[in-house]
Amino acid sequence: MTETNSIFLKALRKEKLDVPPIWYMRQAGRYMPEYRAVRKQFKNFLDMCKNPDVCCELALQPINAFNLDASILFSDILTIPDALGLGVEFLEGEGPVFKNPILSAKDVKNLPEFDPNELSYVYKAVTNIRQALPSDIPLIGFCGSPWTLAAYSIEGRSSKDFKYTKEFIKVNENEAHIFLDKLTDACFLYLKHQVTAGADVIQIFDSWANLLDEKDYENYSMSYIKKLIKLLKNDSETKNIPVILFARDPIFNSNVMTESGADCLSLYWRVQNLDLNFLSEKVALQGNLNPKILLEDKNTINKEVKKILAIFKDYPGYIFNLGHGITPDINPDNVKYLTELIRSI
Ligand code: CP3
Repeated sequence: MTETNSIFLKALRKEKLDVPPIWYMRQAGRYMPEYRAVRKQFKNFLDMCKNPDVCCELALQPINAFNLDASILFSDILTIPDALGLGVEFLEGEGPVFKNPILSAKDVKNLPEFDPNELSYVYKAVTNIRQALPSDIPLIGFCGSPWTLAAYSIEGRSSKDFKYTKEFIKVNENEAHIFLDKLTDACFLYLKHQVTAGADVIQIFDSWANLLDEKDYENYSMSYIKKLIKLLKNDSETKNIPVILFARDPIFNSNVMTESGADCLSLYWRVQNLDLNFLSEKVALQGNLNPKILLEDKNTINKEVKKILAIFKDYPGYIFNLGHGITPDINPDNVKYLTELIRSI
């Protein structure tokens, strides 16, 4: 059983703490030599994700190296499109590539029913990681937001501007909504299985929130995130599980994000001038050091961390994190330095 008084869960309950809990988005990954040693045994990244013992080893690497306060499932957000038959591949040096992307309205109609049992390798990884972790370290399960999953599935790969996706949702508005609805239901079942398998907290990654203007964001992304969180909060098995929402560089004020129903907002690094009085009534906050600062020298890291800690010093329910994921070019020594620095201030 996970201890309910771990500092990460306390912060998610909006308790004010002397030292914030610390974890990092993409804390397991290529910047770690231990990760690269395991990774090179697999050609396709998803094949590695399909091995629950390897996922367990990888999730524990940053916990062991940096003594963090939360662990995140080792997997990927693109497992759902893969389970829907879209054929996701991650080849070395490339991002994700879909063998069968959604190219037309017909492709949406022909999608199979989502079968959550297709992803039993993920739930097994959750159970393995939960068993291997100390009881005071909560495990975060996760999924991509319906919009972010739709964007990859339609574009068929990563892209700067997702031009094809933007065109698709204008020309095929109805089918876009049918697809988003299907992804929302899939995300719910997927997260519910992760919770049953041992996840203590859920994070939803809206990594392509920045593609949409305010009106389209409500229509294509936020409305489905709201629906997903509502499903989680109305289900007897998931209703007490804290939900964290990360949105990448949304164009609107963070106050709007509180309407999602999430318990905690994970702030992108560019977010500033927060209305902390308003937010403190509603949500815990997580963030938001620019990961690029970890490429700088220790003096710069020190200065930037102090700025962030000063902003959130009195916030009830603050979790230290980065404003986006750790990149492969970051030196693990700086991650160690950062973690120890926060605890020493
Ligand atoms: O500690 C962890 O966070 C590991 C678990 C994790 C991964 N991906 C492993 C991964 C998590 C939580 C994710 C989330 C994820 N995946 C997101 C949301 C977070 C964000 O960054 O906004 C997104 C957009 C993806 C999709 C994805 N996965 C892309 C675009 C890529 C290729 C680009 C890249 O960063 O390599 C991946 C691959 C991926 N997912 C890797 C890892 C460790 C690297 C794969 C490799 O080693 O070849």
